[in-house]
Amino acid sequence: RLSSPSLGRPANMNPEIDRTRLLSEIEALAEFSDAAAPAVTRIIFTPADLQARAWMKARCEDAGLTVRYDAVGNTFARLNGLDAPAPVVGTGSHIDAIPNAGKYDGVVGVLGGLEAIRALRRCGFRPRHSIELLIFTSEEPTRFGIGCLGSRLLSGALSPDAAAKLTDKDGATLDNVRQASGFTSELEGVKLPSSYYKAFAELHIEQGPLLEREHIPLGIVTKIAAPASLRILIEGSGGHAGGVLMPDRHDALCAAAELILAIESAARTSGARDTVATAGICEVFPGAVNSIPSQVRLSVDIRDTDLGRRGAVMQTLEAASRAISAKRQVSIHTGLLNADAPGDCAPIVIEELSQSCTKHGLKFLSMVSRAYHDSLFIGRIAPVAMLFIPCRNGYSHRPDEYASPDDIVRGTLVLAEALAALAA
Ligand code: GLV
Ligand code: MN
Ligand code: MN
Repeated sequence: RLSSPSLGRPANMNPEIDRTRLLSEIEALAEFSDAAAPAVTRIIFTPADLQARAWMKARCEDAGLTVRYDAVGNTFARLNGLDAPAPVVGTGSHIDAIPNAGKYDGVVGVLGGLEAIRALRRCGFRPRHSIELLIFTSEEPTRFGIGCLGSRLLSGALSPDAAAKLTDKDGATLDNVRQASGFTSELEGVKLPSSYYKAFAELHIEQGPLLEREHIPLGIVTKIAAPASLRILIEGSGGHAGGVLMPDRHDALCAAAELILAIESAARTSGARDTVATAGICEVFPGAVNSIPSQVRLSVDIRDTDLGRRGAVMQTLEAASRAISAKRQVSIHTGLLNADAPGDCAPIVIEELSQSCTKHGLKFLSMVSRAYHDSLFIGRIAPVAMLFIPCRNGYSHRPDEYASPDDIVRGTLVLAEALAALAA
């Protein structure tokens, strides 16, 4: 147990993080997975996800919290404040995991958030504002193509109509899938009023190398980078891998390869390390070794903290598509799934997180998040900030993702102190 010295804010509060329990819960949650350990795959509204949700609900109820769901499955677990109608102090993250992921992305913010609230209760803290854990639905874009689904709806960044019509790769709509999973109320009811939150703080692993490299135990996020994603369909012409002569070919995969390299080059030469671009999905049709690829579907993710720079990469992509299409006589069609603005974190939350670090003598780094998070969208309706802990080698979205017990406990303690200060 790591305990805090007594603080001036709020008076006499001394939360202690139950390290053993928190770490064992992280291990337990990783068992709900469609991949062999240590990998974790937990796609939204699959049996693994639904079982994990049921387990989380039981943990929250055990902690004495009142649990409610909205129509898309965002889960709220509340510790009632003395002044119940006052705006809420929120914390939380996601428990869905992309294919072949690790066990800490999102989970540290959910189970750390829960433990922070339990620690506050154990030390006798009675908040004035209710403190609420929020487990977001589908922060990851795996199933419905768009990330931060739950927080987009909560903040009004995505309309209920557009959300209802999103489809997965089997053509099932979000509306059908969520209802079959037991979330049957109206999607119109998901959006939160802008007066709902007093503040929101999300604990997360850094998913990058900077804290570890600089030997700094905590990061306070001041800005979240702007994500954009695109689906690209390249249509050429197929045929026999032996029979069609090379000059006669219109190979869709060769065109895709050129396009991917053009995107990579645009990101590498932007002049800023915050520009990143990834072609993470490449589906080749018909997918036979002796058949020329006639169709390729690419999914591309482009991010930057600066909208102008991101826009320049997207323009390069368009220009490269035109040039490759003319040169190779293939058609290239680009569909934009989302292009969101970056988000600034709020001074009041940054300040409480910084003070909590300072009071424990912990160094922190002010940093940007190049990964996106639900806090990007909650930031449109509430003051938000994020607290990062290091992860080994900066690894994330892979099975060997790892955050140390000391870092997890430290992050949870600082989160608890900040929540208390905000809710007092
Ligand atoms: C979230 O997982 C992201 O891709 O940044
Ligand atoms: Mn992730
Ligand atoms: Mn995450």
